[in-house]
Amino acid sequence: MERAPVEGRATVGAMIDRVVGAPVAADRAANHLAAAVGRLAAAVDQPVAVVDHLVAAVDQPVAAADPPVAEVDPPEAAVDPPVVAVDPLAVEVKGVVPSGVGVVESVAEPTSLIVAIDGTSGVGKSTVAGLLAARLEVPMLDTGATYRSVALKVLESGTDLDDRTAVIAAAAQAELKLQPAADGGFEVLLDGRPVGQRIRTPKVSDATSRISVHPEIRQRLVEVQRQTAARYGAVVEGRDIGSVVFPRTPHKFFLYARPQVRAERRHAQLVAAGEAPSLSAVLRNIEERDDRDSRREASPLVCDESYYPIDTSDLSVAEIVERMVEEIDRKRQGRAPAAV
Ligand code: DC
Repeated sequence: MERAPVEGRATVGAMIDRVVGAPVAADRAANHLAAAVGRLAAAVDQPVAVVDHLVAAVDQPVAAADPPVAEVDPPEAAVDPPVVAVDPLAVEVKGVVPSGVGVVESVAEPTSLIVAIDGTSGVGKSTVAGLLAARLEVPMLDTGATYRSVALKVLESGTDLDDRTAVIAAAAQAELKLQPAADGGFEVLLDGRPVGQRIRTPKVSDATSRISVHPEIRQRLVEVQRQTAARYGAVVEGRDIGSVVFPRTPHKFFLYARPQVRAERRHAQLVAAGEAPSLSAVLRNIEERDDRDSRREASPLVCDESYYPIDTSDLSVAEIVERMVEEIDRKRQGRAPAAV
């Protein structure tokens, strides 16, 4: 089938300025490009491909907006979705698209900054990952949200969670799409609908830890996570990011905290959200999930020497983020670890 024509021509600098709404320094261009392309994909509601030479070229100084900036209107009546892509040297770009997961083609090795954050439930990974991502100017990918969305699908289908075959079959029916969101993260669309807070209930939390033991479910989600993060660059948080999803990234952190501290934090969150579970029930739930997450056969939660471990029990979020930024800078500059 013939593909729709190329959308337009633009310099990367102009394109990035347009999408982020402010001029950006050339040395930050790669990260902004990733974010811009994500937003562009969301705007036209189609995957957007970036050819590899473009990513390399972004490291070059970016020219001003000449020739004119491309329009990013959704293509008119395109039968086959076109790819919109932009070249820094105002070269026209190719177009190929089809992709079931809302991101572009699979990338074997990350071309962008990937930071892996693993750790137990309730240790503050999401908060830390969000702040770190903002500092590094890359998106944040909460992989737990992908498992939670599949769990929601399984629960909604009324499947017995103890029936392994039925759970895997119900999970396979979940159509997932990760879409860059305004808050710098990714929105999960389940069967075309944003999951929002529907995945944050205790019932879904519990079901998630049960369905995520199945390798058949994990494999598919790992692929979606790899594609998304490798294409955009990301701070990725979960349980198996440094061990399975991105084992080769040099930036791996393992966050942990005393169970009592985690239970108190989670309890405070639930109370703030209008729920009233007892502290001991929250603690029990956390310990059960820890146990399941670390003892399962498929991708158990483990910390080895490739990780930089951080006990967050007595640290503020700002202190944790600061420590991570220092460690990432140190690795990027090839400096030796600080003497302890
Ligand atoms: O981080 P979270 O609380 O949203 O995770 C919910 C559940 O999903 C948790 O029980 C473990 C599972 N999970 C996983 O197995 N692997 C991941 N990469 C992320 C989450």
